[in-house]
Amino acid sequence: MFTHNEAENFYDSFGIKQNKQFYEESAINILLEHGKFSTAKNIVEFGCGTGKLATRILKYISSDDCHYTGVDISQTMIFLCQKNIEQFSGRAKCYKNDGVPEIDVQKQSADRFLCTYVLDLLTEKDAIVLLNEAHRILMPGGYLCLASLTHGTSFSSRLVIYLWSCLFKLKPSIVGGCRPVKLTKYLHNNKWQIIHNSIIISYGVPSEIVIAKRI
Ligand SMILES: C[S@@+](CC[C@H](N)C(=O)[O-])C[C@H]1O[C@@H](n2cnc3c(N)ncnc32)[C@H](O)[C@@H]1O
Repeated sequence: MFTHNEAENFYDSFGIKQNKQFYEESAINILLEHGKFSTAKNIVEFGCGTGKLATRILKYISSDDCHYTGVDISQTMIFLCQKNIEQFSGRAKCYKNDGVPEIDVQKQSADRFLCTYVLDLLTEKDAIVLLNEAHRILMPGGYLCLASLTHGTSFSSRLVIYLWSCLFKLKPSIVGGCRPVKLTKYLHNNKWQIIHNSIIISYGVPSEIVIAKRI
């Protein structure tokens, strides 16, 4: 597994290359379609990366009074995100955390909690802490919006994930610390109502998308 330190170092040097992760695009489109971001008023994103998704939402989808808070462990990512979201001045901010998946946001203050391609690099323990944190931050009825690398469902995607997992075992940093996960396994409890769950394969790489309503 990636330690917090390893994640920080890796994404500090990866920086803007994150925007070229071509296989993520289709999953993000599905997430945006089902996450109803046009009605969002307060979005919190964990592992915001370069702020590419935040910019897309704030510029083209949400209303002008929608607020955004992004969190990332990498100073480089926070620098890039800040540059991207400064155009939204008073209503968008981001800050660097130390890796612990706790977020400096008041309880029940957000209506969307966004986390794309991050749960697949967290330890199970951190993933559980993060989802408890998402539950704390979201108001009842708010949407948890997740996308992640997952297990293959077709011959070609199973082969891709087999090779991917071999590389991960060899050295996690070759694949950015990411390994396939099943997101819904964290959500079968009385805290969430899953309203969308799908797997899309793009360039042979399978991604899982989940939208869950906070109960
Ligand atoms: C694969 S990138 C995904 C970035 C962005 N969400 C996207 O979809 O383009 C993973 C991001 O999670 C951040 N990250 C990894 N571990 C983290 C942690 N423990 N706390 C906060 N951010 C973390 C990395 O710095 C990186 O920006």
